[in-house]
Amino acid sequence: MTTFDPNAETQLSRWHVFDSAGELEEAAVAHILAAADAAIVAHGGFHLVLAGGSTPRYVYEALRAEQADWRKWHIYFGDERCLPPQHPERNSRMAMVSWLAHVPIPALQIHPIPSELGAEAAAHAYTEVLKEVPRFDLVLLGLGEDGHTASLFPTHAWERAVSWPPVLPVHDAPKPPPDRVSLSPARLGATQGVLFLISGAGKAGAVRDWRAGLPIPASRIVAPGGVDIYLDQDADGD
Ligand code: 6PG
Repeated sequence: MTTFDPNAETQLSRWHVFDSAGELEEAAVAHILAAADAAIVAHGGFHLVLAGGSTPRYVYEALRAEQADWRKWHIYFGDERCLPPQHPERNSRMAMVSWLAHVPIPALQIHPIPSELGAEAAAHAYTEVLKEVPRFDLVLLGLGEDGHTASLFPTHAWERAVSWPPVLPVHDAPKPPPDRVSLSPARLGATQGVLFLISGAGKAGAVRDWRAGLPIPASRIVAPGGVDIYLDQDADGD
């Protein structure tokens, strides 16, 4: 048996540039639904990791109008902000309001990161939750203007080493709030598919660095099947 080692691999990236953010969102919804169908046929369930941020939010809002086998979906989060559970800036709250509260995914299959416990305790608790799912089916990620993804910031000492814990406490984040929890690069890469959702001219600098091969956090997410990057023309900047 061969074991996939993210440290030994460079990211295989497939870039998909859309004329508008609307076209990107439509394609992202189709991509997610197709991944769900394939996973449910293959093993009876769909294990999806959600991202925070504005581009993913529009995709979530579009998903709630779709028909899907929702009862077979299992939802996880790639990162979370250390705020009370109902705080409007929580990624889990954003996903609930924009999508999850409107579809019949069983509540027990939605797994928010309990970041209200504080970053260390939440990372520990979520590590236990993730033991149930050694490999995700699809991981959604955003991109920050500084190249961060999930809560992996370029200003922080982080690595994709397989020896790092799967869930990391994060402090002093440059994007508020300062305390966060993030899945590690290796844990985010333990998946069948990865889909980045990126829109807006503010991301063009980070995209340029990424395309140039600079080691920004987003470029360190390595998955066996490669990563798909959906971006609009404004974000592409070229
Ligand atoms: C968060 C994130 C973060 C986000 C990017 C993009 O909680 O802040 O998960 O990584 O996805 O910053 O966010 P925007 O789409 O809002 O720019």
